[in-house]
Amino acid sequence: MPGMLEEVLAGLTATTRAIPPKYFYDDHGSLLFDRICSTQEYYLTRTETDLLISHGTDIIATTRPAQILELGSGISHKVRLLLDACGKLSHTCEYAPFDVCEEMVDLATNRLAADYPWLSITPLLGDYHAGLGNLPKTGGVRLLAFLGSSIGNFTAAAGREFVRDIRLSLQPGDFFLLGADRVKSAAILHAAYNDADGITAEFNLNILRVLNSTIQANFDLDNFSHSAVYNADLGQIEMYLIAKQEQKVQLGKAGISIRLAAGERILTEISRKYGVVELESMFIDNDFKLVRHYQPDNQWYSLLLAQVPG
Ligand code: AVJ
Repeated sequence: MPGMLEEVLAGLTATTRAIPPKYFYDDHGSLLFDRICSTQEYYLTRTETDLLISHGTDIIATTRPAQILELGSGISHKVRLLLDACGKLSHTCEYAPFDVCEEMVDLATNRLAADYPWLSITPLLGDYHAGLGNLPKTGGVRLLAFLGSSIGNFTAAAGREFVRDIRLSLQPGDFFLLGADRVKSAAILHAAYNDADGITAEFNLNILRVLNSTIQANFDLDNFSHSAVYNADLGQIEMYLIAKQEQKVQLGKAGISIRLAAGERILTEISRKYGVVELESMFIDNDFKLVRHYQPDNQWYSLLLAQVPG
């Protein structure tokens, strides 16, 4: 990836040392994330899936989209629940998966084509954040989906800005479907990011393996431990890798090195948890009309459907 070494180096030498979470997802990292999703403790995927199963037909009946555009579509698993709802309602539409990972989008496209013969698929490749400004035109109503609590990786301010960018990329009558995790007890949140089988820990450490192979770093994974803590003030899980001992790490072919003290932390991810008021005002303040707010009885997760007025 061009500029990756510079980006990683800038993050690792900043006042708060950090690695961008997008680097979690090489093949092995994506596999580990899938395994996280089926752990007992990680309620997010299960809860969102249940909401999409319960309310998928209402979402499609309400929006009747000409196109479903999914940001960060990955293997396009979640969208199937919306496509199943289309099938039930005999509603046909186009699907536009938008993701950086070409192999994943290709695989998803082939599998979806086999399972949904009525579906036309228009893959979009690249950084969906950067690409929001010039989405291809559609003939009719667009349903833009951003699922899986991916918005949690943004700070509060960046999340609001992202919703605004989405609003600006849509036309009057278009819809936006957002999946977001909710504030809840610290114990439940802590467990979700510290599963008993240690899969989240493996996922976290794997980011160092990604750096080793892509930017010729020499992190020793045994020299770091996983930490995920809930910061109640900011309403976010913060995931860190903690240096177990003092060490020197080389980065890049030129042999740039950084020194870590024992106990020093590298922030690998924040995962924000939203309150109802904050979530709903993100839409209202950005000139969206909130059409539906689906949530389970325990209020652990939100699926919001909003529309551009006019
Ligand atoms: C994919 C960003 C939604 O923050 O819950 C899961 C990633 N990290 N366990 C999340 C993740 C650790 C996940 N998101």
